[in-house]
Amino acid sequence: MRTQVGIIGAGPAGLLLSHLLHLRGISSVVLERRSRAYVERRVRAGVLEQGTVDTLVEAGVGARLLREGLPHDGIELRYGGAAHRIAFEKLVPGRRITVYGQQEVVKDLIAARLEAGGDLRFEVEDVAVHDPAGAPYLTFGGERLDCEVIAGCDGFHGVSRPSIPEGVLSVFERDYPFAWLGVLARVRPSAEELIYARDERGFALHSMRSPEVSRFYLQVPPDADVADWPDERVWAELRARLETIPGFALETGEIIEKGVTPMRAFVAEPMQYGRLYLAGDSAHIVPPTGAKGLNLAVADVRTLTEALAAYFGTGSADLLDGYSAACLRRVWRAQHFSWWMTTLLHTFADEDAYARRLQLSHLDYVTSSAAAATTLAENYVGLS
Ligand code: FAD
Ligand code: PHB
Repeated sequence: MRTQVGIIGAGPAGLLLSHLLHLRGISSVVLERRSRAYVERRVRAGVLEQGTVDTLVEAGVGARLLREGLPHDGIELRYGGAAHRIAFEKLVPGRRITVYGQQEVVKDLIAARLEAGGDLRFEVEDVAVHDPAGAPYLTFGGERLDCEVIAGCDGFHGVSRPSIPEGVLSVFERDYPFAWLGVLARVRPSAEELIYARDERGFALHSMRSPEVSRFYLQVPPDADVADWPDERVWAELRARLETIPGFALETGEIIEKGVTPMRAFVAEPMQYGRLYLAGDSAHIVPPTGAKGLNLAVADVRTLTEALAAYFGTGSADLLDGYSAACLRRVWRAQHFSWWMTTLLHTFADEDAYARRLQLSHLDYVTSSAAAATTLAENYVGLS
């Protein structure tokens, strides 16, 4: 079997890449180890930058997103008993975010690929990368797929990054001393906009998926176990951290999904080796406080598509050679913003009274200075 681009992973990065390449007349095969049902149900990100929405719409996979996505022109920072709005329409006119579940993006992309006759293989076993710097090929479940290029879109725990020989990559990482407990609940949102709450008990986030479904996150210890978080405890903790301003009452309802995500930052440089290119979480991850992971994956794929279109169209590898450098600038900006949002809003077990005062002072600055608020807004809605 032979294809132009062998893609490992049917997450947002791999699926979008396959779709964008198809639009440019470039063939690909997507190999995914999980089932279609599993990837379509995996609850993760929810905030799409304008550039991400534009990419999906221009690629013809944005119809449902435009119909069902929830556009937002601001977010709330809640701390010290008060609510402070970061108003995108005033600070970054013309730019907004759209709340639309990652698994909905994944469903839309799978549907588009299948409709166009795309080659998506689910539940494939033992995918392995061979000879990435020579004549690359993939093996899986006893089959062999020869490729001109391999795209490693297989997330943080995938096989593509570890297939790069030792000594080639530089790795930068940070583990945070806490995790997020994510909860999906069948209840209407208690507020119109996302609420990022900094509280002495820890960070809490109020988000949403639709007029009937809300999404919440709680800062929890790094070794937290969902078994220790029965529904009543989740609601009690969300109330304690969110019902901190006069007149706000949290609506509660049936919890339909619960999971713990470690908070970690990671970058592998360069994002390429020979004819193997890494895109999305396989090359970098950010703590989710800045809502950047999915958006970075989409931006990588946009850059990679242009480079591959030039390569297969004219034979020029210039853009491919510059792929990693082109991505890493944006990746590091997102790393910094995600670190900044995370330190601004979480409680740290080892922080003293002085550090807590500094954090509150920083929050006051961000919510009272137009320059500081614009910095937050500009990074949150996305620079590209
Ligand atoms: P993935 O989605 O991880 O996809 C990789 C795929 O590869 C998976 O389907 C996996 O099964 C498959 N795979 C792995 N190994 C193999 C193998 N060996 N063989 C074959 N297939 C393999 N980002 C935002 O932008 N905004 C947010 O609001 C946001 N919130 C988040 C909240 C949470 C709780 C979490 C966990 C993440 C959040 N993110 C957010 C980050 C975002 O979800 C990720 O950055 C995004 O999923 C990256 O997409 P990807 O396609 O690179 O990787
Ligand atoms: C989400 O809705 O899942 C979400 C929103 C904002 C974030 C992270 C996740 O910062």
